[in-house]
Amino acid sequence: MGKIIAVAQHKGGTGKTTTCINLGASLCDMGKTVLVVDLDPQASFTLSMGINPLEVKNSIHQVLVDPTVDIKSNSITNQTPLDIAKERYAKGEINKDQFMQIKKDLED
Ligand SMILES: Nc1ncnc2c1ncn2[C@@H]1O[C@H](COP(=O)(O)OP(=O)(O)OP(=O)(O)O)[C@@H](O)[C@H]1O
Ligand SMILES: [Mg+2]
Repeated sequence: MGKIIAVAQHKGGTGKTTTCINLGASLCDMGKTVLVVDLDPQASFTLSMGINPLEVKNSIHQVLVDPTVDIKSNSITNQTPLDIAKERYAKGEINKDQFMQIKKDLED
């Protein structure tokens, strides 16, 4: 079972987006499979990933307001977490122990 980390702070400009970017990247470096959901209408995280939010056909907004919209169609990748882990293992981005740990985490 995965862990959910929410980064929230009412005050603006306090490093929320910066924290998401670096926390996400650091967890990836540790071999974790990470899904970042950008719920901020400013879409700063999306922009920082090199994605133009104006070109995203369905955003998380549609997922939240329209129950017929499938969240998988909104993900940048619709691979399963295990698919992603296999790909990363094949590319040498994670070692066998890290792959087995991810597999175990997903099964728990
Ligand atoms: N630890 C840090 N040290 C110095 N500067 C930082 C640090 N973290 C973030 N910043 C800088 O502070 C500014 C605001 O950061 P960021 O955009 O992450 O804040 P935010 O809380 O997401 O803002 P907003 O409320 O507008 O969404 C940026 O210029 C960022 O580069
Ligand atoms: Mg922000």
